Amino acid sequence: MSMRTEYCGLTTEALLGQTVSLCGWVHRRRDHGGVIFIDLRDREGLVQVVCDPDRADVFKAAEAVRNEFCLRVTGIVRLRPEGTANTNLTSGKIEVLCHELEVLNPSVTPPFQLDDDNLSETTRLTHRVLDLRRPQMQKNLRLRYKVTMEVRKYLDQNGFIDIETPMLTKSTPEGARDYLVPSRVNAGEFFALPQSPQLFKQLLMVANFDRYYQITKCFRDEDLRADRQPEFTQIDCETSFLTEQEIRDMFEDMLRTVFRNALGVELPSPFPVMDFATAMGMYGSDKPDMRVKLQFTELTEVMKDVDFKVFSGAANAEGGRVVGLRIPGGGSMPRSEIDAYTQFVAIYGAKGLAYIKVNEKAKGREGLQSPIVKNLHDAALARIVELTGAEDGDLIFFGADKAKVVNDAIGALRVKIGHSDFGRKNGLFDEDWRPLWVVDFPMFEYDEGADRWVALHHPFTAPKPGHENFIDTDPGRAIAQAYDMVLNGWELGGGSVRIHRADVQSKVFRALKIEDDEAQLKFGFLLDALQYGAPPHGGLAFGLDRIVTMMTGAESIRDVIAFPKTQRAQCLLTQAPSPVDEKQLRELHIRLRNVEPAVKA
Ligand code: AMO
Ligand code: AMP
Repeated sequence: MSMRTEYCGLTTEALLGQTVSLCGWVHRRRDHGGVIFIDLRDREGLVQVVCDPDRADVFKAAEAVRNEFCLRVTGIVRLRPEGTANTNLTSGKIEVLCHELEVLNPSVTPPFQLDDDNLSETTRLTHRVLDLRRPQMQKNLRLRYKVTMEVRKYLDQNGFIDIETPMLTKSTPEGARDYLVPSRVNAGEFFALPQSPQLFKQLLMVANFDRYYQITKCFRDEDLRADRQPEFTQIDCETSFLTEQEIRDMFEDMLRTVFRNALGVELPSPFPVMDFATAMGMYGSDKPDMRVKLQFTELTEVMKDVDFKVFSGAANAEGGRVVGLRIPGGGSMPRSEIDAYTQFVAIYGAKGLAYIKVNEKAKGREGLQSPIVKNLHDAALARIVELTGAEDGDLIFFGADKAKVVNDAIGALRVKIGHSDFGRKNGLFDEDWRPLWVVDFPMFEYDEGADRWVALHHPFTAPKPGHENFIDTDPGRAIAQAYDMVLNGWELGGGSVRIHRADVQSKVFRALKIEDDEAQLKFGFLLDALQYGAPPHGGLAFGLDRIVTMMTGAESIRDVIAFPKTQRAQCLLTQAPSPVDEKQLRELHIRLRNVEPAVKA
């Protein structure tokens, strides 16, 4: 006889009267005056096992089992007594009357109850194996698998082939620090783990594979947040001879198909498209959460001639910006809430958060309530009300500073208010799936610290037709053929049409102040390949972890990764990273500087 005949969670009334053998873990054991109930759990869910004192051996064994013991149970499927069915379980109408109970392996007492919903992340990650046994984690990782299967199916049907690219490679500039791997054989030299397969996929296009994809790990040593891991997974794609529009259409269709088949959700068709400048102008973000029904009002011009220095200073400064954020119904917001928002925007560098409550706009200045009204002339006040479209009972927040501070602070405030109880009660938030393409990114942004231009996407992104000449004459004006796919405020993916001409690529390197010999040293293999009739090509990469996180509604991408790292880039389960032997270091030609041992979380 086989060890197992059914999955616990799939044992149903279809098996009434039959003898089944089940294997699983003790989820809970309940002693009900003489009868012992065991909720036995496997991959598919729970089933109730009944151990009756009539069978002394079974009963005795059942008395000794504890949570997380691994059991094999043989028994007869019978209906649960009237009124005791559990509609939450597939097996909820039945129970298994046990006549053989075998402890396959006992368990020490687990450090927590598996159904405790208030576990700290440290506890969960330290005991990840037990954490992964929890139904929610089982569900998340299964969904992740389903998503990758749907992606593979879609791409296969569309002629993409999966080609592996090296993990031990050279630096690919995606804007983060590299993880380096020392070479033993080549003293003093290092591999970099790929930040993405970007350059290899381009080489594969030059090599005539036409459509490539890979679901692959990428490594980035960057500051971690809820939506970032040091190693994460990309659905990485590249195509030849497709236009930007064709590429976007294809991958939009892919995402819709994946959401439909893996989640049963129908995303809108087509996705709205917004250019970068509009997104920054209206939302202060290149990944606006379109569920939030609040937008900026540009007030920079209006504030140029007011006496209030906070506003006029920013409005007249180079790179300064003044915006209003109208909050419909915000007039009822108590002072304490406004103060809390003032503290919130300070996180983003805002020096304050001016506001005006519109009590009765027909009364002009008298109908407006705010500490700053006295500093603004009548015409400015009238323009504020007019441009924001404020009605009686509304509140307007203001941000005035360098554009970046205003965008970050008021952009975050917009999302915060939209998601708040106030926002939801006042209809400022749509509970829905709101995808968006953001397009027409600038090619470069100015890095004040480094005093030079840097690539906004990566330096292999092609300019829009007609923008090639700006690359050397006016880099700030050059618009790229780059696009990001955004869903509910998260950047799920991004890509671009690439530069396929060596001369244009060299021009971009020069604009980035990468000298010819440096470019040759770092990217010579790419520049060489481009010379052999490289085809026009382009593609994109999705963050698989982020897609699955969105689908599950989890707070962090750590909840859809089996063995993730903490915010401090450590694995609490294996204690990686960890010191290594002197011998290993010597083989790698490495001598450590004096380092303080890392603090383990
Ligand atoms: P990009 O850097 O935008 O583009 O990355 C593509 C997508 O990968 C996801 N992502 C991350 N997910 C988790 N943790 C991280 N640290 C992390 N960093 C990025 C995001 C992002 O949209 N080579 C280009 C793609 C291309 O041009 O084809 C690239 O890597 O969801
Ligand atoms: P102050 O004149 O500094 O007392 O500020 C008057 C009001 O303007 C207060 O409500 C501040 O919160 C607000 N404020 C100050 N600096 C800024 C700024 N950079 N952007 C928006 N509001 C500000």
